[in-house]
Amino acid sequence: NKKITIAIDGFSSTGKSTLAKELANYLGYVYVDTGAMYRAVALFAMQNGYISPNFFDSDALIKRLPEIKLVFKFNADLGFAEMYLNGINVEKEIRTIEVSNYVSKVAEISEVRSKLVEQQQEMGRNKGIVMDGRDIGTVVFPDAELKIFMTASPRTRAERRFKELMKKGDDVTFEEVLKNVEERDYIDTHRDDSPLVKADDAIEFDNSTISKQEQFEKVLKFIDL
Ligand code: C5P
Repeated sequence: NKKITIAIDGFSSTGKSTLAKELANYLGYVYVDTGAMYRAVALFAMQNGYISPNFFDSDALIKRLPEIKLVFKFNADLGFAEMYLNGINVEKEIRTIEVSNYVSKVAEISEVRSKLVEQQQEMGRNKGIVMDGRDIGTVVFPDAELKIFMTASPRTRAERRFKELMKKGDDVTFEEVLKNVEERDYIDTHRDDSPLVKADDAIEFDNSTISKQEQFEKVLKFIDL
């Protein structure tokens, strides 16, 4: 069977990665979470003191971009790939609310985007890939055979994210998570470079109204197996 490229875009916590992982497992494709890459760059900026509340030295970060090496390593026990920043496993650190609070500022920078987009295009060169993010169907793989755009109300998404963070023992309030979701929505849809927008040829799913199982079955109908 001919391998295809599947692009999944949408707002945060709409269940993009759940659907993408399921599809990749089912099809024997590679799954790539591009949000993890932007999160790792945000973590690098934090670790080097380039970003904190009300401060962001984007020029300093841009200068050091060539030093940033991002690698996904598959963890067979977990069943998914973990993010390594310059040789160190940062999978846990990149999922914290601190990183979530800074990542969209970092993702606005064109130099950051072009570096990551280039690496993403390289990963998808041989197709057989499911990639999720914000600009996959519009910028990274405009020719993807299947594009999905996922939405859900901010409240539904914040509840999802809040549960995940609580499970991990993160000390956050629901209001804090909701505020973060709304702020990221705003920045992601309003930035100049590659704003979050549904590609004309993407199929749209509203995750507040259909179940994961229904979603998966609907998507399979679009794939010519
Ligand atoms: O997918 P996730 O919520 O982990 O993404 C974190 C942030 O990274 C998003 O809010 C967005 O600012 C940025 N991002 C992006 N383009 C992508 C993936 C993520 O700008 N392709």
